[in-house]
Amino acid sequence: TKIAVFASGSGSNFQAIQEAIERGELNAKVELVVTDKPGAYVVTRAENFNIPVLALSPKEFASKADYETAIIEALHECHVEWIVLAGYMRLISEVLLTAYPQRIVNIHPSLLPAFPGKDAIGQAMEHGVKITGVTVHFVDEGMDTGPIIAQAAVSVVEGNREATETAVHKEEHVLYTKALQQLLK
Ligand code: GRF
Repeated sequence: TKIAVFASGSGSNFQAIQEAIERGELNAKVELVVTDKPGAYVVTRAENFNIPVLALSPKEFASKADYETAIIEALHECHVEWIVLAGYMRLISEVLLTAYPQRIVNIHPSLLPAFPGKDAIGQAMEHGVKITGVTVHFVDEGMDTGPIIAQAAVSVVEGNREATETAVHKEEHVLYTKALQQLLK
């Protein structure tokens, strides 16, 4: 299955997916990494794996529709079938959703519907929950609202945000690979 990974940041989930593919655990090929942040570390990671990168700043487009249309053109050129969001910090609009119906997935660092949006781990710690986790879900117009595909619980390390983050990210890398194994046959 030909996939594109969309990321705005470090890209550790992208790397986990690519490594699972290289180990033969995932029947997929990352044809393109798409980023809205040309300076993001995910670009370096993609280059290290020799995977092409499409780095487009939304600012350079007149509208979100134009921005997503430019992305779709590149996806079609690479015959991309599925879009995997991995720390892509933008809402997906109707333009991309219509081009890839039921073919866009996201990972979020909480047990949705708890703590959607930014800094889900900080939100969970602030709230004082003892257990948080990771959710893989289909993407719709909302913020972290689409149908849930898979979830895993992670214990909060009280008073230690860094340790909690490490545990959540570790689980993300495992859960995303597992969920994609089921989806990308
Ligand atoms: C992850 O926590 C993901 O769930 C969230 O953004 C973070 C991206 O991390 N949506 P990375 O860029 O994959 O390291």
